[in-house]
Amino acid sequence: MTNYPYDRAELRANLAGLEQRPGAKKPDPILVADSVVRRFGGMTAVDVDHVEVQRGTITALIGPNGAGKTTFFNLLTGFDKPTPASGRDRASWSFDGKSFTRTSATRVARGGMIRTFQLTKALTRMTVLENMLIGAANQPGENLFVGLVKPLWAKRERENIERAEELLRRFKLDAKRNDMAGGLSGGQKKLLEMARALMSNPSMIMLDEPMAGVNPALTQSLLEHIETLRDEGTTVLFVEHDMHMVRHISDWVIVMAQGKIIAEGLPEDVMGSRAVIDAYLGAHHDQDLGDVINTEMMRTIEDEIKEEAR
Ligand SMILES: Nc1ncnc2c1ncn2[C@@H]1O[C@H](COP(=O)(O)OP(=O)(O)OP(=O)(O)O)[C@@H](O)[C@H]1O
Ligand SMILES: [Mg+2]
Repeated sequence: MTNYPYDRAELRANLAGLEQRPGAKKPDPILVADSVVRRFGGMTAVDVDHVEVQRGTITALIGPNGAGKTTFFNLLTGFDKPTPASGRDRASWSFDGKSFTRTSATRVARGGMIRTFQLTKALTRMTVLENMLIGAANQPGENLFVGLVKPLWAKRERENIERAEELLRRFKLDAKRNDMAGGLSGGQKKLLEMARALMSNPSMIMLDEPMAGVNPALTQSLLEHIETLRDEGTTVLFVEHDMHMVRHISDWVIVMAQGKIIAEGLPEDVMGSRAVIDAYLGAHHDQDLGDVINTEMMRTIEDEIKEEAR
């Protein structure tokens, strides 16, 4: 974890002094991305010219359905590849000073940039503790997603079990450690997704709609967990449609629409801006949120596991 002296007032004061425009420079960016383009057939899902995420902040990525937020997450974390550029700059991005442009999802994860995943069918049939253990990426020869190849994670280390148990206590899931993950409530599943991502001690955690499907009783606790992560020095980048949550916990807001970043700034300034309201009004909200991992992605992950297991 990054040792970042956290002082919210100071952080806010620093951010308040920044230019509020797409691609704004940050004093200490942990993530910098340039020319990231992804097309699906004739449709451009992501076309991000330049973006920086300030270290130690909770940054929200908002935008209407289909804006390209999830696709952008997938690109950054190596689960999807940018469309090769024609006559334009090639996509490039760096995280914590290391180039992650042409790396695999596992290497990105090992580098400290972790995204949460929805519990897929396979994962719901494993226990809560087993789900945690597959989040441990620190064993030589192991892979973040070894859970998909059971023999690899079966020889688990004491150390990982201890870390898993500590995180389960923190997220109040310790009583459920031997329950099937599929039996958890919607909110508990979200907590498990977050706890699992923390197994590898990331310096940045990326959350895609952490509040979706969460019972109001668990909302506050989820928010507090996210704020605690930031207070401990973990950078948080999250996608969320719940504007109350965005307003409440984010230090900085980045707005995407039709693949592009159209606005950036402090939550109180950006969320009421004309460009943002227009972007939302111009979009439909009835789209299904869908699965975060599609079959194509699962195949990529499985291929990587086989590669690493060799
Ligand atoms: N694998 C795919 N194949 C074809 N089109 C895709 C694929 N993945 C995403 N898209 C399209 O790319 C666009 C951006 O989708 P994306 O899921 O990134 O949006 P989003 O901002 O995450 O939306 P939401 O808020 O609804 O989750 C959409 O038009 C979507 O239909
Ligand atoms: Mg999405």
